Amino acid sequence: MDVYGLIGSPIEHSLSPPMHEAAYEALDLDARYVTLEPTDPVAAVNGADALGIAGLNVTIPYKQAVLEAVEPDAMAQRVGAVNTIDFSGARPTGHNTDVIGVQRAFAHHDVALSDQTAVLVGAGGAGRAVAVALRDAGARLRIHNRTESKAKALAADVDATWGGINDETLATACADADILVNATSVGMESDETPVPAAALHADLTVMDAVYRPLETRLLADATAVGADTIDGAWMLLFQGVAAFEHWTDHTAPVDAMNAALRSRLE
Ligand code: ATR
Repeated sequence: MDVYGLIGSPIEHSLSPPMHEAAYEALDLDARYVTLEPTDPVAAVNGADALGIAGLNVTIPYKQAVLEAVEPDAMAQRVGAVNTIDFSGARPTGHNTDVIGVQRAFAHHDVALSDQTAVLVGAGGAGRAVAVALRDAGARLRIHNRTESKAKALAADVDATWGGINDETLATACADADILVNATSVGMESDETPVPAAALHADLTVMDAVYRPLETRLLADATAVGADTIDGAWMLLFQGVAAFEHWTDHTAPVDAMNAALRSRLE
């Protein structure tokens, strides 16, 4: 039996176990996916290697810390964070499937990114993966963040423009944009939105990284003005799909993984 897992803290509400186990069941693979909450992430990666664990996902707050325990690939180095570790080689290798997860979520909805104008709200860990995903796919990008210095630093890294998050600057930025992505935690288990409804319009595709609730205030406001929406479960799904495909020789059973995820969200 192959054992996969997730390290992070807290991880008790993680949806990765049902998502990955649905894939094992759909493909009749002899595998399990467990959640682990170590205090020392580097020791945990070394220990997992010694134990013969097949693969690990890594979540907050350990995505940067595990870099010193793995051989990071080019994307993990670029993002400065690892969310997927593969133990099949001589040394554990570190990957970042958050970036491809964002790109595949847009592709799944037939939303082109190349030559599109995108606005990203948020410049933390999730924001960084979204920024790299959008820029690599050829979008023009403007990054807005509460702490403007973080927007500025991320914008310099990915060759984007930047600004703050007051209503006026967001409305100006969104006015001629095709894509809006929220990568802040605003809206998580609350009715708040990071972007005022007045800034939204029907020509936008709005993606939210928040998936609890699935329909955030931002996405409800976007639907109300006739914009297309992509909820946060799609990003979560496709980073998991890409991790699964790193670890196994199989094409991920996307529909089974999606159904498992969505049955646990509302
Ligand atoms: P993650 O890894 O999930 O991205 P993070 O790195 O802590 O988490 O980033 C959280 C993001 O949400 C940041 O962009 C943060 O803005 P700051 O950089 O100014 O802290 C943003 N955020 C969190 N709470 C916010 C709030 N109440 N209003 C606006 N932005 C908020």
